[in-house]
Amino acid sequence: KDKSTVSITVVGASGDLAKKKIFPALFALYYEDCLPEHFTIFGYARSKMTDAELRNMISRTLTCRIDKRANCDEKMDQFLNRCFYHSGQYDSQNNFAELDKKLKEHEGGRISNRLFYLSIPPNIFTAAVRCASLSASSANGWTRVIVEKPFGRDSESSAALTNALKQYLEEDQIFRIDHYLGKELVENLSVLRFSNLIFEPLWSRQYIRSVQLIFSEDFGTEGREGIFLSLKYFDNYGIIRDIMQNHLLQILALFAMETPVSLDGEDIRNEKVKVLRSMRPLQLEDVVIGQYKSHTKGGVSYPGYTDDKTVPKDSLTPTFAAASLFIDNARWDGVPFLMKAGKALHTKRAEIRVQFRHVPGNLYNRNFGTDLDQATNELVIRVQPDEAIYLTINNKVPGLGMRLDRSNLNLLYAARYSKEIPDAYERLLLDAVEGERRLFIRSDELASAWALFTPVLKELEEKKIIPEYYPYGSRGPVGAYYLAARHNVRWGDLG
Ligand code: BG6
Repeated sequence: KDKSTVSITVVGASGDLAKKKIFPALFALYYEDCLPEHFTIFGYARSKMTDAELRNMISRTLTCRIDKRANCDEKMDQFLNRCFYHSGQYDSQNNFAELDKKLKEHEGGRISNRLFYLSIPPNIFTAAVRCASLSASSANGWTRVIVEKPFGRDSESSAALTNALKQYLEEDQIFRIDHYLGKELVENLSVLRFSNLIFEPLWSRQYIRSVQLIFSEDFGTEGREGIFLSLKYFDNYGIIRDIMQNHLLQILALFAMETPVSLDGEDIRNEKVKVLRSMRPLQLEDVVIGQYKSHTKGGVSYPGYTDDKTVPKDSLTPTFAAASLFIDNARWDGVPFLMKAGKALHTKRAEIRVQFRHVPGNLYNRNFGTDLDQATNELVIRVQPDEAIYLTINNKVPGLGMRLDRSNLNLLYAARYSKEIPDAYERLLLDAVEGERRLFIRSDELASAWALFTPVLKELEEKKIIPEYYPYGSRGPVGAYYLAARHNVRWGDLG
């Protein structure tokens, strides 16, 4: 019999992220029997709500997505019965002390383990951490806090936040989420590289010509799947801080790191931070920024970024950015890592594209026709949608002549596996409950990530650099093509 309990308190329980991601992820974990025997979930927010109202609110976004087993409704009821609500201010020690009392009642004298998920705006992070840790930490088990970005908006503000949190929590109690690290194909990156002899020896400047990290969304800042993206947040942060400095940079670090001593969280993060510290801070000429403008297509008119009433008309906030980064170490010297991230583009996609060098010599060059670039191998890891890994190879077109052609060796997850891929939040929440830190950002990683981007972010703002405008639904600013061309490469996603 398990003598301990785990309580998970979602602070900011009525927010979109909580409703659309956190509670459904917790339910999926429960459904899969991944949560401990004794667990309780508390929603904490300012508005007044009864337990029944919370349950009703949550139940609207829970789905039995894993399969349609008959007992889903029953499981849902059981899960909802474990969910409770406590109304309180985020900066009130008293309110957190009341929560503590309720948590104790649920724990019934067992060892208490407490996880707080802070799904609240950054300006109240520290106050909430202070109150939760002073008034509601566990007396005899662990207390952990999950925090979501933004972790500051530059090196200074991020360091200030780290220091503020340090007053109340040890580093190993803080779980900084970057939900891209919880995505299946990102998790698979190390498996692909380190467990396949045909890849690992090629993973360096010797064979790789460029690495591209591409994120695009086919909707603007109006948000995804009904998850509201606060424009107050976005306009103050922009796409570089929203996507590049965290999601894409984290993928880059995982991609480029040396072999870790083990799969232990500290060993992996030690290697990632070395990559980040070996990188050159971005210069202004390494960056292209863009902002989307309204566009009418097929009779439908799509609004521009500044058409939103809450965005200042003269906002220069980038909704698109492309950047070239370099890792100055022996493995990657001279290899451009190109990043591209944008909203309101023509497609929704996140992928890693590894472009290999030309085959030396010219045995078959003339058989490719004019464009040798078309003949290099490319490994693509499509993070979403339609998760896949494919490798472009050259082969002979069948027939009497000698014409070469490119084909894909394709591992399409949907065709290979029948099980649905878990949402990133499921993996991350489970890891936090189990104390697995591998997929969370350590404070030194965070500081190194900011060190790379802070100077250029400041320069863009100080010089009021005007973004290149691009129509909603297009492929983004043409400047991104030139940026790649300067490094003698092409974006793989543009064909
Ligand atoms: C978030 C960003 O971190 O990631 C959003 O703040 C973005 O702007 C979102 O839309 C994308 O996440 P996903 O999992 O839908 O690709």
